[in-house]
Amino acid sequence: MLPTTNFTPPFDITRASHVALAVTDLAASRDFYRDTIGLVVTEETDDAIYLRGLEEAAHHSLVLEPADEAKALRVGFRVRTDDDIVAAEKHFAAAGIPHQRVERPHQGPTLQFTDGVGTHMELTSSMTQVERRMQAFDEFVAGAPQRLDHFQCVTHDVQTATDFWAGLGMRMSEYTAKDGTDELWGTWLEVKGNTHDLVFTNGRGPRLHHFAYTVPDATALLHAADVAGATGFGEEIDRGPGRHGISNALFLYVRDPDQHRIELFTTHYQFIDLEEEPIRWDVSNPRRSQLWGMPASRRWFFEASEFPGEPVNDPLLTATPATLEDYLQLH
Ligand SMILES: [Fe+2]
Repeated sequence: MLPTTNFTPPFDITRASHVALAVTDLAASRDFYRDTIGLVVTEETDDAIYLRGLEEAAHHSLVLEPADEAKALRVGFRVRTDDDIVAAEKHFAAAGIPHQRVERPHQGPTLQFTDGVGTHMELTSSMTQVERRMQAFDEFVAGAPQRLDHFQCVTHDVQTATDFWAGLGMRMSEYTAKDGTDELWGTWLEVKGNTHDLVFTNGRGPRLHHFAYTVPDATALLHAADVAGATGFGEEIDRGPGRHGISNALFLYVRDPDQHRIELFTTHYQFIDLEEEPIRWDVSNPRRSQLWGMPASRRWFFEASEFPGEPVNDPLLTATPATLEDYLQLH
């Protein structure tokens, strides 16, 4: 069933903003994200490393925290003002949604909560401002990622996840459904005016499948693949380069030293005018996932990062797209 976007939501979410990951070797993860991906290190402490894309003026879009076990900790969104944090707190209290106020370094008022399908989320209204490095071309390395763009989460219940976020003002730009139906397999949801800030796909969840940064162009994307090869991460490219049918992104996916997955991509189209209908894809249509080239491996489809203490549920839908392994059996 297609979701109904609430255009007067209880508080105002503006964009995908930041992600926090638990990593088992802080220095190894810092080196990967700085040297193989090309992010800027804003700050290092004993407890965390804060990184950002080259054009970002916010203090961080990626936080690495040391831990014994690799986990996805929080998926972060920005809200417009401090008042929106207060409004979110009231809304979650009234709706019985688990939430808590926290203090986070370099963030304004911050509220953590668990969404309708168990995804660990965080809202903040501001961050410490730092210098944009978008014209420091002499500092561009690897993919030269410019800014964090979106998250993809796996959930056992795409319908419930989609309805939850549509109720908070997110709008669906594209979706995948069981063949010939509107039974949702995956939904691409946006608030910032391009194709997505948050994606849910059907599978064992809640888990974080990937977070994505936009890169300047196709050359930067291919250079990132070359750099991954040179730094010993060639086998950690678990998909791409390729072109998605959904969202029209040229993509590359790389696994970090703890197997968290980052996507580098260029680029998405605008999705702002309200009369535009979402694009529908059958789950069996290979062009939805790649316009050319071979399907993704089982590794890309089925591996993702769990949230601490959050039980993982089996998916309600059994439909799955063809994997590379399926494709090779047939060709
Ligand atoms: Fe993505």
